[in-house]
Amino acid sequence: MKDLSALDFTGKIALVTGASRGIGEAVARSLAVLGATVIIAARKIETLEQVAAAIEKEGGKAIPVACNTGRPDEIEALFETIGSRGYSLDILVNNAATNPFYGPAVDVPQWAFDKTFEVNVKGYFLMCQYAAKQMLAKNGGNIVNIASVAGLSPIPQQVVYGMGKAAVIAMTRGLAKELGPKGIRVNAVAPGVVETKFAEAMTKNEEIQRMILGMTPLRRFAGPEEIVGSVLYLASGLSTYTTGTILVCDGGISS
Ligand SMILES: NC(=O)c1ccc[n+]([C@@H]2O[C@H](COP(=O)([O-])OP(=O)(O)OC[C@H]3O[C@@H](n4cnc5c(N)ncnc54)[C@H](OP(=O)(O)O)[C@@H]3O)[C@@H](O)[C@H]2O)c1
Repeated sequence: MKDLSALDFTGKIALVTGASRGIGEAVARSLAVLGATVIIAARKIETLEQVAAAIEKEGGKAIPVACNTGRPDEIEALFETIGSRGYSLDILVNNAATNPFYGPAVDVPQWAFDKTFEVNVKGYFLMCQYAAKQMLAKNGGNIVNIASVAGLSPIPQQVVYGMGKAAVIAMTRGLAKELGPKGIRVNAVAPGVVETKFAEAMTKNEEIQRMILGMTPLRRFAGPEEIVGSVLYLASGLSTYTTGTILVCDGGISS
C-alpha cells in the first residue's frame, strides 16, 4: 500500500510565486498546513504579509519576499535572500503570471507581448534555473509550473498568453528530461478557467461566461482551491514516478 505520509511536507522548503492571492495563495496555505516552510513571493509586500499572517494563524510558517518575476535582478535578489537565510529549495511552484491584453492577436501591442513573455516565460525559466541550481546541490527537488489549457489549445483573444503557456509546457518537458537523471522532477498543471482576479475578463463578462460554461462539462468555473490537489500531488511523494507531465485540471473543457 502507498505510504500516505507522502503528503506530509514537514521539513520541506517551498517557494510559491504569485502567492498573494488566487491559486498561488491557496497552494501556499495548503503546503504550509501540511508542514512546509513556504517562501511566498509577489510584487506587493503588504498583501504577502497578510497571507503570511494567515498562514501563521493556521499554524504554518511563511516568509514573504517581494519580487517582480518579470525582472531578472529581482529574481536574483530573491534567491540571494533565500540563501542568506540559510534555506535551499525542495519545491518551486512557479505560478506568478500576467495577461495584460485581452483581444484580437492582430491588435496586441508590443509592450503587452514583451511583458507577457518577460513574466510568463523568461521569469518562469529564470526561476527554474535558480531553483534547479539549489536542487542540484542537494541531489533532488521538485518543480511545478502553473501552465494553462490555453497552452495546449489556444484560446481566441488570448493568443499571446497561450503562446507563453505553450512555452511553459515545452520548458517543463525539456527540463524534466535534463533534470530527471539528477533526481529533480519537473511537471506542470494546466488549469481551465479559475475564478480569480486574473480571469475577470472572462468570468465577469456574461457573454464570454455563457460561452465558456457551455463548453465546460462541469458547467462552472473552478475555485482556486480546486487547483491545489493537482499541485500537491505533483509536488509530493505521491507522484514519485511522474515527471514531464502536464496535469490538466479544467472541468473537462479540453476533453
Ligand atoms: N485564473 C485562471 O482562469 C487561470 C487559468 C489557467 C491558468 N492560470 C494561471 O494560474 C496562475 C495564477 O493565476 P491566478 O488566477 O491565481 O491569478 P491572480 O489571482 O490574479 O494572482 C496572481 C498572483 O501573481 C502575482 N503577480 C502578478 N504579476 C507578477 C509579477 N510580475 N511578479 C510577481 N508576482 C506577480 C500577483 O501579486 P502582485 O500583483 O502583488 O504581484 C498575485 O499574487 C498564473 O500562472 C495563470 O496564468 C490561471
